[in-house]
Amino acid sequence: MTGKFISLEGGEGSGKSTAIVCIQRWLDAENIDYIMTREPGGTVLAEEIRGLILASRDEAVDDMTELLLMFAARAQHMSQKIRPALEQGLWVISDRFIDSSFVYQGRARGGDTEKLNTLTEWVVGDNKPDATLLLDVPVDIGMQRVADRKNADRLDKESIEFHEKVRQGFLEQADLEPERIKVIDASQPLEQVSAQIVTQLDALKTAWKRGV
Ligand SMILES: Nc1ncnc2c1ncn2[C@@H]1O[C@H](COP(=O)(O)OP(=O)(O)OP(=O)(O)O)[C@@H](O)[C@H]1O
Ligand SMILES: [Mg+2]
Repeated sequence: MTGKFISLEGGEGSGKSTAIVCIQRWLDAENIDYIMTREPGGTVLAEEIRGLILASRDEAVDDMTELLLMFAARAQHMSQKIRPALEQGLWVISDRFIDSSFVYQGRARGGDTEKLNTLTEWVVGDNKPDATLLLDVPVDIGMQRVADRKNADRLDKESIEFHEKVRQGFLEQADLEPERIKVIDASQPLEQVSAQIVTQLDALKTAWKRGV
């Protein structure tokens, strides 16, 4: 039996890393075996590539370079960690995955969606997430939540307009694939956000049990 693959998506400060804790509690209570991972990264080599992508540097980073580094990290992550875990029947929870590429490198930076589709087909193949929880929050709230972070990385430092494009981009992704991408109102207090997440997880578990 193959495991289930759930990704978490959303802009900076939307609460993805916080949501992971809530999901972990639910999985433990349900006695489901799982791994937690993140993108870019997830393996030693992929984390090294993450460092290259996110480092603030004087040299301009070409959009194509950023995109290909993301997919290089993803190829490693898929083959060394995600696929083996799914084949063992584990659930895989990833903090960010392909939708972040479609939004950051695609919609926000004007990247070619066709190329992204081709790369996704190549690198991810049949292992697209079974479900995606999109944490949606107005840009100013997300920014406020991470304002006191000292080590802002290259993508954190983008303009408000860029982050606005990111938010709209994620919502457009959800419109394209409403079956897979569940939008969570992440502007609410943590308790309510956690409750929405648990409701979604319960519904997914029921649907998957029925083989939907
Ligand atoms: N619903 C919420 N209400 C208020 N504060 C929250 C909520 N969710 C998360 N936070 C706080 O906001 C900050 C950012 O949350 P978190 O690190 O989970 O975001 P993230 O989506 O992982 O961000 P990044 O994309 O930068 O990794 C944290 O300090 C967290 O405690
Ligand atoms: Mg995070």
